[in-house]
Amino acid sequence: MPQKPLLEIALGEAFTGFYALRAREKREYDGKPFLIIEIGDSSGRLKGTYWGDDAEKIFESIQDAEVVKLQATIGEYKNEKEVKINRIRAAKPDEYAGLNFLPKGKVPKEKLAAGIREKIATVADPFLSKLLKEIFGAPAFFESFIIAPAGKLWHGAYIGGLAEHTINVTRICELAAEMFELCRRDLLITAALLHDIGKVEEIESRAHYDYSIRGRLLGHIVIGERIIVAAISKIEDFPKSLADELSHMILSHHGEPSMGSAIYPKTLEGAILHHADWLESQANAFSHVIEKELPDGGHFSGWVRPVGRFLYLDGYRDEE
Ligand SMILES: [Fe+2]
Ligand SMILES: [Fe+2]
Repeated sequence: MPQKPLLEIALGEAFTGFYALRAREKREYDGKPFLIIEIGDSSGRLKGTYWGDDAEKIFESIQDAEVVKLQATIGEYKNEKEVKINRIRAAKPDEYAGLNFLPKGKVPKEKLAAGIREKIATVADPFLSKLLKEIFGAPAFFESFIIAPAGKLWHGAYIGGLAEHTINVTRICELAAEMFELCRRDLLITAALLHDIGKVEEIESRAHYDYSIRGRLLGHIVIGERIIVAAISKIEDFPKSLADELSHMILSHHGEPSMGSAIYPKTLEGAILHHADWLESQANAFSHVIEKELPDGGHFSGWVRPVGRFLYLDGYRDEE
């Protein structure tokens, strides 16, 4: 029998199943150790606690676990659902082979792949066109790119999130290129398609999304720029100034150093890319918070930590 999606399990309901182990922590209360655990599946994530006498031993045994099998009940703590764990153990890969714990996106993979290819075909500059084909034309890279998430938690944190974000940013850039006469369209569209490719290596997709060691050390901006520089070195006579401008756009696309950029955007195309990226990621994240929290019935969402505010929900409800 397929296991019930985690977020659909009702308050008070007991359940058994396999879940991605997203976080584990050992704490003490009144001199007794207990565990705080976060589990997840494709429907979302929940925090839980384990109070068994063997908490210490259990903690050791799930240290490196990707997935756990647990027997638990959905309880409540401070008005939020909480998993009260009765039994928990590390699961073996062959036990959860057919299960996918990653959140699914709404756009099918084939449509995302076609969307990226369609945008690549609009770039006429021979060097930029060659560069895009060099990078996206590698089958293994393209496959990873199409299924990658755009973020770990906040925006586009689902299968295909990166391709969806990239297509939307490119579409915003296409509009801007029409609007501003000086804008060099092919440079802007190429940079838009390539701006986040480093995320393919920055975020690991296993039972749940997490930053890779390389991702934590270098970040997707540096990783992406390196991929581009390496690809450019394979293209004969690629103009040096064009290569530098492209690097500049990747390195500046987060807008300012405090947001992870190496430098501020110093070209029109760099400024447009940065704002298109910001607009898309915020609009995507707001949309997901609204969709997720609308059924809960409040006027406002819960506290949205990345933006430090509650979002207003009533305007998205059908009038009675
Ligand atoms: Fe980025
Ligand atoms: Fe981005």
